[in-house]
Amino acid sequence: MSGIKIISTGRALPSKSVTNDDLAQIVDTSDEWIFTRTGIHSRYFCAEGESALTLAIKAADNALSASKITKDDIGCCIVATLSADYATPSLACLVQTELGLPEDIPVFDLNAACSGFIYAMETARSLLTCSGKKYGLVIGVEQLSKILDMNDRGTCVLFGDGAGAAVIECDDDLFYESVLGAKGGKEICCPGVNEGANGSKSYVSMDGKAVFRFATSAIPKCIEMLHEKVDFTLDDIDHVVCHQANSRIIDHVIKKLKADPAKFYKDMDHLGNTSAASIALALSEMDDDGLLQNGQKLLLVGFGSGLTWAGMLITYDKK
Ligand code: UT7
Repeated sequence: MSGIKIISTGRALPSKSVTNDDLAQIVDTSDEWIFTRTGIHSRYFCAEGESALTLAIKAADNALSASKITKDDIGCCIVATLSADYATPSLACLVQTELGLPEDIPVFDLNAACSGFIYAMETARSLLTCSGKKYGLVIGVEQLSKILDMNDRGTCVLFGDGAGAAVIECDDDLFYESVLGAKGGKEICCPGVNEGANGSKSYVSMDGKAVFRFATSAIPKCIEMLHEKVDFTLDDIDHVVCHQANSRIIDHVIKKLKADPAKFYKDMDHLGNTSAASIALALSEMDDDGLLQNGQKLLLVGFGSGLTWAGMLITYDKK
């Protein structure tokens, strides 16, 4: 089977950082409550003139510049998101135009919520394998601030905006495997992004406790499913990058697996939960901070609305 490896990363964040104390001015909450329950201190919200599109373009441009390949070599462009600027055209098509990517390639958005980046990476691999092209551009982006109910303290404190991107290379004989899954349920739900005919807006709603239970079982389940396909242990993995929903979810899993906490990356303290962008953002931060070294093996795990889950074993190999 052909696999993929990550050859470059990029990211973009909005200009406005919103702290827990800022939110405490709007809803009845506190830095202490939010940080204790989630590990989040602050997140970014788009300011005027910023949107999922502007973030996606910037993150993709950064990843492409870092890849040292030419735009003409890109064989597919997929954006994972649940909060695109428009229902159509897709963010991916607008990124394609802005960056001058080739026209004879598949370009589209994909919604698998917080598992979206891994779904998009595996979809890109399949497309590249079929077309025989070598490189793909995969972006995870969200502007969740526009679908948050700022009167609902149970959800508005959790999420943030941002974008991450990766350029991937398809090849044979790579350390690579993925598992994708889903089970329909409305534990996290947002009926629609736009204002309805009656002027009412629909917002993210969530059964927090049910999602917590789902998340803490989905991560070990993904690892187990990967293990059925590939002979590996967590000792073989350099970094585990889970969807950055909540620090307590990751801590719970570390305890359950008796794993080394140092292998589990966390950045929700300053980014919050950025859904489809979170794993891509984490990889880009790790890249810039020198945590990623060529040849390192990564385990990526996503879980979220749908309900969806996704796991991936992949190598980092910067060009
Ligand atoms: O991408 C996946 C996204 N989803 C998640 O990661 C969510 C997973 N779930 C969780 O992390 C947790 O369920 C939450 C952090 C969302 C909530 O924690 P919890 O321990 O399940 O709290 P709760 O909803 O049971 O609420 C406990 C109390 C309630 O007050 P009463 O009824 O006990 O008086 C809430 O009204 O905390 C109250 N509360 C808050 N208090 C201060 C809820 N939100 C807040 C808040 N500030 N922001």
